[in-house]
Amino acid sequence: MLNGKKIVLGVTGSIAAYKSALLVRLLVKQGAEVRVVMTESAAQFITPLTLSVLSKNTVYTSYQAENSTWNNHVELGLWGDLMLIAPATANTISKMAYGLCDNFLMACYLSAKCPVVFAPAMDRDMFLHPSTQKNIATLEKYSNHLIAPEDGALASGLEGPGRMAEPEHIIKFINDFFLPNQSKLKNKTILINAGPTQEAIDPVRYLSNHSTGKMGYALAEVAAQRGAKVILVSGPTHLTTNNSNIEVIPVVSANEMANACFNHFEKADISILSAAVADYAPLEVSSQKIKKQESPLTIELKKNIDIASELGKRKKKNQLLIGFALETEQELTNAKIKIQQKNLDFIVLNSLNDGGAGFGTDTNKITILQHDGRQKVFELKSKLAVAHDILNEIELLLP
Ligand code: CTP
Repeated sequence: MLNGKKIVLGVTGSIAAYKSALLVRLLVKQGAEVRVVMTESAAQFITPLTLSVLSKNTVYTSYQAENSTWNNHVELGLWGDLMLIAPATANTISKMAYGLCDNFLMACYLSAKCPVVFAPAMDRDMFLHPSTQKNIATLEKYSNHLIAPEDGALASGLEGPGRMAEPEHIIKFINDFFLPNQSKLKNKTILINAGPTQEAIDPVRYLSNHSTGKMGYALAEVAAQRGAKVILVSGPTHLTTNNSNIEVIPVVSANEMANACFNHFEKADISILSAAVADYAPLEVSSQKIKKQESPLTIELKKNIDIASELGKRKKKNQLLIGFALETEQELTNAKIKIQQKNLDFIVLNSLNDGGAGFGTDTNKITILQHDGRQKVFELKSKLAVAHDILNEIELLLP
């Protein structure tokens, strides 16, 4: 994911510096070129040699370091696509906030033209101190990006916030950071529907299904991370999002979901229909609670509108329409019929016969069937990873 990206990694004097080794390894493994700058106190926690071997580059500790000339800090600052300071101690954060330039790392920081990301590491009370919080707020005002420390056991024996984010989380943050610039979804408008619908029987009862909306919400999050503007038409779920690139339109019934989708379809470059829309609704909704009776109760159902089919009719040449198919038997045959009937560009097939796939799980196992018959079978993965696979497939269809 980080192929060819140039990362300047600043390491400062915290016990978390030992994690820099893993951080460098993960960055290099993802294809990044890493140049490490360490403060003198960082070098007491982990040797420059270790980080030099892992990064396959000279590690800079001071102006006097081997191969280092007086203007290296300017060159490094200009060379990087991103400067990552991890761990960032309270001391370094304070220097960054005030522009204090008393070491090589600070000279690089102050001359960096690239985005700067910092991952604080310190004791709980140092992190919570108003002065540190003020410095962090100052850095955020300078458009430096904070990777918040995590809660847990600290080297001091205290518990609380202050642990540097785990290297895997830092790598994910950096991946997400670069994603929008590389993605073809940047600035695209994506309409996603998600979750179940509820079809009222009377004021207290409804017909619905087991959908939780997790797949649709994961798609919305990943699309937004890639720089898309997402309109998420959501049936009733317990899920929330605070991503400012996602506009949530809450709906209850299939009819409401249909109207919301129709209202936003025209401006959508891509529509992904992951909702489990109820196919039927009670013909009549009782205005009063239906009372128990001795004889069996029959509720007559009427067919709901098929949102995907209707959007398939309205679809223009420059729009993509992606559907889902949940099947319990003859999966491929049924899914192929749905692609044609609904005029989809591709369909994401879930089979309830696959363990780990389906409602409420955090994982999913999908097959993507293209309109032209090509198919790709994917492994069981987290719904977030599946969302990446689906959006990658969409990107392949974009010019
Ligand atoms: N769909 C829809 N409107 C409906 C029913 C389904 O938009 N009233 C969409 C779903 O969101 C999904 C696709 O159509 O993208 C396939 O849904 P699925 O439930 O698998 O199939 P159905 O068309 O409902 O057919 P069946 O229930 O007979 O399998």
